[in-house]
Amino acid sequence: MCGIIGYAGPRNAQEVILDGLKRLEYRGYDSAGVAIVGRSLEIYKEKGEISKLASSMPSLDGHLGVGHTRWATCGQPSKMNAHPFLDCKGRIAVVHNGIIENHQALRKQLVEEGHVFTSETDTEVLVHLLEKHYKGDLHAALRETLREVKGTYATVALHVDSHQLVAARKENPLVVGLGHGENLFASDVTAILNYTNKALYIMDGETVVLDPQNVTIYDHEGRIVEREPHVVTWTVEDAQKGGYEHYMLKEIFEQPTAIHNSLLGSLEELENGSLMVDQDVPSVKLVACGTSYHASMVGKYIIEALAKIPTTVELASEYRYSPGTGENPLTVMLTQSGETADTLAAAREARRRGCRTLAVTNVVGSTIAREVDSVFYTNAGPEIGVAATKTYTAQLMAMYLLGIRLAQIRHAMGRDEVRELTSDLRGMPRYVGSVLDRSQQVNEAVDMLVPAQDVFFLGRNINYPTMLEGALKLKEISYIHAEGYAAGELKHGPLALLTKSTPVVAACVKDHTYEKMISNISEVAARNSPILAIGVEGDTDLAAVSDAIVYIPPISPILSPVPLTVMVQLISYYTAKKRGCPIDKPRNLAKSVTVD
Ligand code: G6P
Repeated sequence: MCGIIGYAGPRNAQEVILDGLKRLEYRGYDSAGVAIVGRSLEIYKEKGEISKLASSMPSLDGHLGVGHTRWATCGQPSKMNAHPFLDCKGRIAVVHNGIIENHQALRKQLVEEGHVFTSETDTEVLVHLLEKHYKGDLHAALRETLREVKGTYATVALHVDSHQLVAARKENPLVVGLGHGENLFASDVTAILNYTNKALYIMDGETVVLDPQNVTIYDHEGRIVEREPHVVTWTVEDAQKGGYEHYMLKEIFEQPTAIHNSLLGSLEELENGSLMVDQDVPSVKLVACGTSYHASMVGKYIIEALAKIPTTVELASEYRYSPGTGENPLTVMLTQSGETADTLAAAREARRRGCRTLAVTNVVGSTIAREVDSVFYTNAGPEIGVAATKTYTAQLMAMYLLGIRLAQIRHAMGRDEVRELTSDLRGMPRYVGSVLDRSQQVNEAVDMLVPAQDVFFLGRNINYPTMLEGALKLKEISYIHAEGYAAGELKHGPLALLTKSTPVVAACVKDHTYEKMISNISEVAARNSPILAIGVEGDTDLAAVSDAIVYIPPISPILSPVPLTVMVQLISYYTAKKRGCPIDKPRNLAKSVTVD
């Protein structure tokens, strides 16, 4: 996964591209580069973050250019492997997001033909193929090039002699921003919002020719495609830090609004029976990766509790290679970005198996929408921090809505029950707001985690996955090894690891597992591990067995994963901050993973 941007117009291309790259930096940040056409084609690259590239570059005078921020897949993160790449004569520049699968064979052939390679990347074959096929028309050369290439790409190229950018897309996102007398390419809309709110989403197999005045899209057979622009409702402010130290903190604090927005319209659709699904289903399968997988695990509890429908959860990377059982569950893909390669492949596999498919995603225009029968948008707004926060709680809201909808269809819930639960859901922004009001207490309570090398997160029932999510958040941003465990499993292994330097974070709400949780926490206390408990306000019994406690407001247990999640997000954030970690850009991670 990488970020790409291209600009053609009257502004200084270098400024537009560096600005766009900063907005795309969450997609990858091991190296970056820019190519600008001025009097000649100039190219600058750096290993490391965009700021390093920006400060090492002179001011360039040019109005056409491309830029790239990289997350290494093929070839080490280094200046040499940073994009853009130039052809042998230094007249064509290319940036690319994706993988060229047959790059070794192509490279061998191109080297035999006399091309000189300067990097270890798969991408570099693209620029040499363009050079080989270029006869005065870069778009024609691109189409020739794509005929030889196997793999996935969003790629943008320019030639020093032309005022155009050309691009192609296959299984990697590419958006055109339509401005007045200027046009842009970008990996996502956050990079174009400063210039326009009109976007054209490029589809698989399409190629594009773009100059300051015109954008022409061609289908895979070279026919011109007419497409209406999409008006983006996200604002530039939505995609900026707004005074918070990190995007992650901003996005944690945006959750009351994000949750409110994720419900907007949906509750009406629920009432009139048009939300997400229109018929009863015998079973449900939830498929996802990473944080979205944890939302799916919570979803299983919700759907089984509300609709009484057997529900299974699978990692997308496993599901796509699994044998299948011949059954046809409603298969729901959860993916905030809508671009995760394994989840897209899982959606294709589900359709191949004849399953009805539904996607829950946050990004309008993302690829998943084209791979499934129906889509539910979580409307949480852009999420820039690599660690998912508001998109996760918005996914949880989607799971409640789906559970209620499925229950409605098979009359598993009475009208009053539905009314009560939806009214609680409407109040969720307030519950979350009340957790956020306690952020200072959380900041103080995390001191016991800051020096730790290992931390365990314990929960039961619907909050077992909440604590898996807590452990994932902590490890990805603070680099502390953390493991989430079902508290009942403690005695089957992890107890052996507990010492006074292994803190335990335990979630304990007043549900039918409360007593068991208290005894599990006491078992931990007996091994002298420091305990940070998350409980329901006023729970003095829990406070008595813990070293520190933070509270969520009283809430029905089935809804408790939402405020508890916000609590574990704050715990992870403040721990990582006290450890001085680069919270928005954890090492080796990227916001969305578009490779298998
Ligand atoms: C990456 C991100 C995770 C995310 C996962 C799935 O690994 O770093 O935060 O949960 O991808 O992403 P998706 O967009 O499919 O929800």
